Amino acid sequence: MLSRRAFVAAGASAFAAFGAIRWVGAQGRAVVRRSIGAMAANDPDLAAYRRAVAAMKALPPADPRNWNRIANIHRNFCPHGNWYFLPWHRAYLAAFERICRELSGKPDFALPYWDWTNQRQVPPAFAAGNAASNPLFHPRTITDSLPDDMVGREVIARVLRSPDFEAFGSTRPDGQDSADRSWLRREGTRTELEFNPHDGVHISLGGDMSQVTLSSRDPIFWLHHGNIDRLWASWNQLGHDNSREPNWLQFEFDRQFPNPDGSAWNVAVSDLQTPDALGYAYDDMVVAAADNPMDAYAAGPVLRDAQRPLDRDVPPAPAADQQPIRPAPQPRDVQAPASRLPSSQLTAYRQIGPYALSRQVRGARRIALASGEAFYFSTADNDLAASRDRPVAIPVPFSRPLPQLIGPALEREPTAGQVGLRVWATLRDIEPPRDKTTRLRVFTNCEAMSPRTPLNDVSYATSVSFFGGDHSQHSSNRHGSVSVDLTPTLRRMYRGQRLNGDRIVLQLLPVCQGADIAASNVRPRRVEVALI
Ligand code: C2O
Repeated sequence: MLSRRAFVAAGASAFAAFGAIRWVGAQGRAVVRRSIGAMAANDPDLAAYRRAVAAMKALPPADPRNWNRIANIHRNFCPHGNWYFLPWHRAYLAAFERICRELSGKPDFALPYWDWTNQRQVPPAFAAGNAASNPLFHPRTITDSLPDDMVGREVIARVLRSPDFEAFGSTRPDGQDSADRSWLRREGTRTELEFNPHDGVHISLGGDMSQVTLSSRDPIFWLHHGNIDRLWASWNQLGHDNSREPNWLQFEFDRQFPNPDGSAWNVAVSDLQTPDALGYAYDDMVVAAADNPMDAYAAGPVLRDAQRPLDRDVPPAPAADQQPIRPAPQPRDVQAPASRLPSSQLTAYRQIGPYALSRQVRGARRIALASGEAFYFSTADNDLAASRDRPVAIPVPFSRPLPQLIGPALEREPTAGQVGLRVWATLRDIEPPRDKTTRLRVFTNCEAMSPRTPLNDVSYATSVSFFGGDHSQHSSNRHGSVSVDLTPTLRRMYRGQRLNGDRIVLQLLPVCQGADIAASNVRPRRVEVALI
């Protein structure tokens, strides 16, 4: 066994925050994760991966490195639908990669990743042969190529433009007020990286990958998450900061992941901020996708300017509204940022807890923050189930014509480093479809919505997949929720003079392959829209 050769005790101060172990290859350099799409069948990392997986499958169940035991960690602990999704899976991969390094005998082994944007089918090394002949083979049901609306460049470009960490990597659990580990699997809302490419690829592959409890038994799981992790690192490289909130940073995943010697690796979110701190890097980040000529989604205007038309146009709120809603108290040791962050309103909005807000608020309201800033918020309840032959429209009232209310903010050209107006819609408490292959297409303010409205309609916003709806821990009887950024769609519509009326209308059209139309039924119980 390679054991300790693979890790050198940290002396370098750069790694002090990480503690005693430095996770690098034997040469003391970061290992480089490369795309499986560029690897020959006998590529040394791919060959090492085959050896490692075969070795893990051969280990007795008593060994913590046994294949199914490692897979069971996912069943037992994985957070989905909240802001621990990304760091938890980063740690899971890092622990797995170290074990592969040891069991493969390749001291600089790096886990390949599957860049599904550029390789729409299962990499051949994972589909060839059968379970006896190929350790990477696993039964799957996928036949089609992964579609553009799930993994295409426009989806990735939208994801990489997410203005803050929770918009990018799913939001904090509703009502979270501590870093106690009981919050690990409580629900926040899924955002596009998770509900679209992450969930969509899981479901599309079929077999074990389509179930939370079994997905990491499929050797492709680790390469799928490699690409998700690479998108996180890419988003950071584009200049976006991770959350600074203590309930995120100080959260511990203790006693969940094994070290290669079988002992527990105790790790907190603050240890998982960059690949560098964990001794790996990616050969190629996705920064080019941000240059995709999707001009409708140029960064928004300066926040402060965007507020003025709103403050002027909307009638003053009733007296009961004058009491500022204060963010939930934070632990004492919060470091106030030295300067005002461009995303401070977004942060304040998240600290209030949109779900709590929606219980207090009916109709359109201006919500004043203790900081003196404000945003607009409105909700609508819903009883209707959308199905493949019957899209549902849920109107959310804003009591002023939208072109006046948000047009000027949508029109203004972007200013570097500032978060512009954002229109966030949250579909709350979604009863998931029985047919798990259902994709829920989300449109906004479409003038002639029908079951045949196409994906390239100007009013199309995104598509939602449903992975793990039956798995998450419900803090109540509620189902999961998703948050959708409507800004690029509304900007495109405004510029094309297609934005009318005084309501943001969410239109939902489920699409499924199965014959049973009712199995595609999707029902969100509430829609909330915030203009931030
Ligand atoms: Cu925890 Cu992709 O799953």
